[in-house]
Amino acid sequence: MVTGGSRGIGLATAHALGESGARVILVARSLEALNRAQEELKTARIDAGYSACDLRDTDSIAAWFDKCVAQFGQPDILVNAAGIQRRGLATELSLSDWNDVLAVNTTAVFELSRCFARGLIALERKGKIINIASLMTAAARRGVSAYTASKGAVGQLTKALAVDWAPHGILVNAIAPGYVATELNEALMADAAFDEWVKKRCPLGRWATPDEIAWPVVFLASLAADFITGQVIYVDGGWMSTF
Ligand SMILES: NC(=O)c1ccc[n+]([C@@H]2O[C@H](COP(=O)([O-])OP(=O)(O)OC[C@H]3O[C@@H](n4cnc5c(N)ncnc54)[C@H](OP(=O)(O)O)[C@@H]3O)[C@@H](O)[C@H]2O)c1
Repeated sequence: MVTGGSRGIGLATAHALGESGARVILVARSLEALNRAQEELKTARIDAGYSACDLRDTDSIAAWFDKCVAQFGQPDILVNAAGIQRRGLATELSLSDWNDVLAVNTTAVFELSRCFARGLIALERKGKIINIASLMTAAARRGVSAYTASKGAVGQLTKALAVDWAPHGILVNAIAPGYVATELNEALMADAAFDEWVKKRCPLGRWATPDEIAWPVVFLASLAADFITGQVIYVDGGWMSTF
C-alpha cells in the first residue's frame, strides 16, 4: 500500500515495487489522478488497485482501511508517502494549515501504520513500514514550521513504532529525501534563485528524481533489509554531510 501513490515519489515507488514483483494499492484523494496512475502502471504490466481517501480525516482512516482490506487483502508493505506543505512564517500561518499538515504528515502516518500493524499481528504475519521523512526531520528552514514539526515527528515515530512492533517482525524505517523534482516543489523549481541554491548546496549538484527515492524504499521493503529497523536513512545527495 502506497499513500500518495498517484504522483511524485509515491507513484515512482509504486513503479519500483511493482517492477520488483509487488501488487500495489495506491492511496490519494483525487480519483482522476489515481485512475491515471493505475493506467500508467498497467502499461508497465504492474498490477495496481486504488482506493481514494482524504488522510486529513484521521478519524475515518480505520473504517476506510478495513474496507480496503476487504477489497484487496491485508498488505505486507506500507509506504507512507502522502504529504503536504503549507508555507508561511510561524507568526502568519493559520491554525487550520498547521492542523492539515500535522494531520496528513504525522497523525495519518500513526493511524494508518497501526491499522496495518494490527492486521498483520492478528494474522501472525511480518511486514515492513517505510515512512517518507525529510531533510526537515533534522533541520529547519524559515517559513515551514508546520512541515518541519510534522517531519521531525515522523523521524521519532519511526523509531517508536519500530521498537513497539519489533517483537512481531514488523520493521519500521524512514527514507529522508533531499530536494526532489516533484509537484510539491513546483514553485521552488520555478524560482531561479532557489533552483540555483539547491544545485550549489547539494554536493551532488542537482535535485533528486523520484526514482532515486523509490529504489531505496524498495531496498528497505526487501529481504536485504531484514535486520534494519528504526532507521532514518538520508537519500539527499550528501546534503546533510556538509554545511
Ligand atoms: N519532493 C521533495 O523534495 C520531498 C522532499 C522530502 C520529503 N518529501 C516527502 O515525500 C512525500 C511525497 O512528496 P512528493 O514530492 O511526491 O509530493 P506530491 O508530488 O505533491 O504528491 C503528494 C501525494 O500525496 C497525496 N496527498 C496529498 N494530500 C493528501 C490527503 N489529504 N490525503 C491523501 N493523499 C494526499 C497526493 O494526492 P492527492 O492530492 O490527490 O490527494 C499525491 O499523491 C511527502 O511526504 C513529502 O513530504 C518530498
